[in-house]
Amino acid sequence: MLYSEKVMDHFEHPRNVGEIENADGVGEVGNPTCGDIMRIYLKIDNDIITDVKFKTFGCGSAIASSSMATELIKGKSIKEALELSNKAVVEALDGLPSRKIHCSVLAEEAIKAALVDYYEKNGLELPPEIKDFEPSEEE
Ligand code: FES
Repeated sequence: MLYSEKVMDHFEHPRNVGEIENADGVGEVGNPTCGDIMRIYLKIDNDIITDVKFKTFGCGSAIASSSMATELIKGKSIKEALELSNKAVVEALDGLPSRKIHCSVLAEEAIKAALVDYYEKNGLELPPEIKDFEPSEEE
């Protein structure tokens, strides 16, 4: 089986799908090669991610990655969300085929982009983790 049970579960029953009105941070990234797009919405209160939703126009691995990534940062601190790597998402999904690793990269980048948006909206200085953030494959 190419995909783990966890990947299939999060693809078939994605968690936290949707949008947040008046989100504190929104991040959108895309991969020009496959054309997939991911958008993450964050609600942040006292440095805690109290809610997170996503919309992914993309492949099954991108949907599973965004679902898992939102689960991994929900209720966590900004600091923990900043530290979330695509590797951690892949591990939590019990692996992805190598051709699908970039789908998990989109999830990491969408969260970082949403955090950049949050800091910028609030006129705050960007923390070192996202100071030079540039989505790697965005057009
Ligand atoms: Fe591009 Fe999955 S194939 S995000």
